[in-house]
Amino acid sequence: MTKIPPYRRRTLRIWTHSQNPNELETCEPEAQSSSLIDLASNDYLGLSRHPNLIEAAQSVMHSQGVGAGGSRLVTGSRPIHKEMEEALANWLGRERVLLFPSGFQANIAAVLALANRSSPVFADRLIHHSLLLGVKACGARFQRYAHNDLKDLGRRLYISRQKFPKQQPLVITESLFSMEGTNPQLKGMAELCDKYEAKLLVDEAHALGVFGNQGRGLCYGLPAPVGIISGTFGKAFGSGGAFLASDAKTAEDLLQKSGAFRYTTALAPPLTAAALAALKLIEANPKWGLELLEKAQNWRSLLVKNGFHRPPGSGQIISIVFGSDELALRRQNQLEEKGILSIAIRPPTVPEGTSRLRLAIRKDLPNGVFKKLLAGLTEE
Ligand SMILES: Cc1ncc(COP(=O)(O)O)c(C=O)c1O
Repeated sequence: MTKIPPYRRRTLRIWTHSQNPNELETCEPEAQSSSLIDLASNDYLGLSRHPNLIEAAQSVMHSQGVGAGGSRLVTGSRPIHKEMEEALANWLGRERVLLFPSGFQANIAAVLALANRSSPVFADRLIHHSLLLGVKACGARFQRYAHNDLKDLGRRLYISRQKFPKQQPLVITESLFSMEGTNPQLKGMAELCDKYEAKLLVDEAHALGVFGNQGRGLCYGLPAPVGIISGTFGKAFGSGGAFLASDAKTAEDLLQKSGAFRYTTALAPPLTAAALAALKLIEANPKWGLELLEKAQNWRSLLVKNGFHRPPGSGQIISIVFGSDELALRRQNQLEEKGILSIAIRPPTVPEGTSRLRLAIRKDLPNGVFKKLLAGLTEE
């Protein structure tokens, strides 16, 4: 049997800022190609090197510091944190937003805020590792329902309500699954939660900036309220850091009780400023998300035209499942030879036998990328 190489850490350097910002130079000595088109990162709107973000980060770095030097409730709060929290709450139509240094941390805090040892917790089978850790940390009664399957979720909620009528259940999902490219039917899920009086936690990490009314995510405008929305600035916002959005009471509870909020150095001011600059750009360009989604649909149709199964979902994440690790890695290498960076995603990140290439379409791709992609995918 062929030995599958382990995941390698890839060190990528920007080719030069003035050249095409999507071209990255690999620093790996064994890499043959000098520049690659990035179809692997989560920088969906290409904002990580946008001059507005760089300028905002630089300016705040000079006025408010590189690091915060303390936690939010001690010495770490800066004007830029408040400005960002208010702007984001306003944009999302939520009462309060709290910033966190990372989405991983925010997710753990969110689960701990909404569940305890006696809570029945129902999570999609494919939720992010950070949410799973949150569930483990609170020691809740835990069940995983079939991916995006509302029938299965409804059945489990019904049974739970019969068995533990006094315990309020928590339902956890992502609004765009990062490795599948699929979305749950959030409206139906919110209605189910309403019916069974369950709380709902939605991780909007991959949908924000792209999906929903002017990129506001898929929870925006839902008829039933979502307990907590989690989001990160490390993806479409082109920066780093994260947030939880909720009603005022939940946010106050988090602020007072969440160790993940209180006992960590506040989000770095320059990253906060860059995220705010990204928010302003997204607000000023309300069609960016839609344009990206149209491009993604076009790529899906072109893949089908060229003999592939239609990749699931409708968003900017296109997952092409090959099954075997060997084949996924071979395709990754073939794509690299054509000048495209795409990483083979293998277990344990995805279930056994579902190794895949995860293509992340960006708003700012140069022309002709799909042709190169096809050549790399079909060559033997
Ligand atoms: C669905 C999801 N949630 C949360 C995170 C964590 O976000 P962050 O990178 O800000 O820690 C990620 C990042 O990989 C993610 O894919």
